[in-house]
Amino acid sequence: MRPAIVVHGGAWAIPDSLVEPHKEGVKKAALNGWEILKEGGSALDSAMEAVRIMEDDPTFDAGIGSFLNEEGRVDLDASIMDGDTLEAGAVASVYRVRNPIKLARLVMEKTEHILLIGEGAHRLAKKMGLEMIDPSELIIEREYRRWKEMKEKGYSPKRAFVEDSTVGAVAVDSKGKFAAALSTGGTPNKMVGRVGDVPIIGSGLYADSLKGAAASTGHGESIMRVILAKSTVDMLGFGLSAQAAAEAAIDLLRRVDGYGGIIVIDRKGNIGYAYNTPRMAVAYVIDGEVKVSI
Ligand code: GLY
Repeated sequence: MRPAIVVHGGAWAIPDSLVEPHKEGVKKAALNGWEILKEGGSALDSAMEAVRIMEDDPTFDAGIGSFLNEEGRVDLDASIMDGDTLEAGAVASVYRVRNPIKLARLVMEKTEHILLIGEGAHRLAKKMGLEMIDPSELIIEREYRRWKEMKEKGYSPKRAFVEDSTVGAVAVDSKGKFAAALSTGGTPNKMVGRVGDVPIIGSGLYADSLKGAAASTGHGESIMRVILAKSTVDMLGFGLSAQAAAEAAIDLLRRVDGYGGIIVIDRKGNIGYAYNTPRMAVAYVIDGEVKVSI
């Protein structure tokens, strides 16, 4: 099968000043994921590596540079799914690991569970030798300023439309195996304990090598109400193309007045994406050619 990877760097009103870093960030992630596919590597490794790169890029709301919660701490969620085995792993509310996506994969591969949160997730990370960090290392000046301003001026995220630079990737490898990976710092000034769609398998992401794969971005509470990623992959199973399924997914989001976007690959290796926000950062590689859209 012809391998392919699509990545997103969030769907929201990305300001002009942040367009270039978003473009560069998604392009680098897609190309690094592609290198793995090109060498015959797995979709799982490819999607994970693309997301890891965006977690390390402070442009995005994932890993370092994420939004702060109401108490001024970065709380991270991530998930990964192997479309061949339908195995999945996820973490929520972690703040001591540099790369939550690596921890999500460890949950999938080294435990009998799917979702670990907070302290238990940190314990697994330590036990497995993942890089542990001080929570302050996840905070950058831009986000500290945003948080201070929200505290001073007051801010409550609009029910449907929030800033969201969640990062995600879907890939298919030469053996026809699909995978999806997703990572986020969630919404700005979120309540302590708030968890969005990202670690909820089927809402944030879904992969099934018999159908395809999808990864969401946008307002987590809306995405969860329509189980967006699984619904999208099911549409692929009913014969919709990647692009038709992506567009139908956004119609589903509208049903709950939600905003966001989705990236999709179908069984033919076609890619699709759609969003109902002013912008979404997307990059994809097919046949070695990279395309970026924002
Ligand atoms: N889509 C990311 C979140 O709502 O947490």
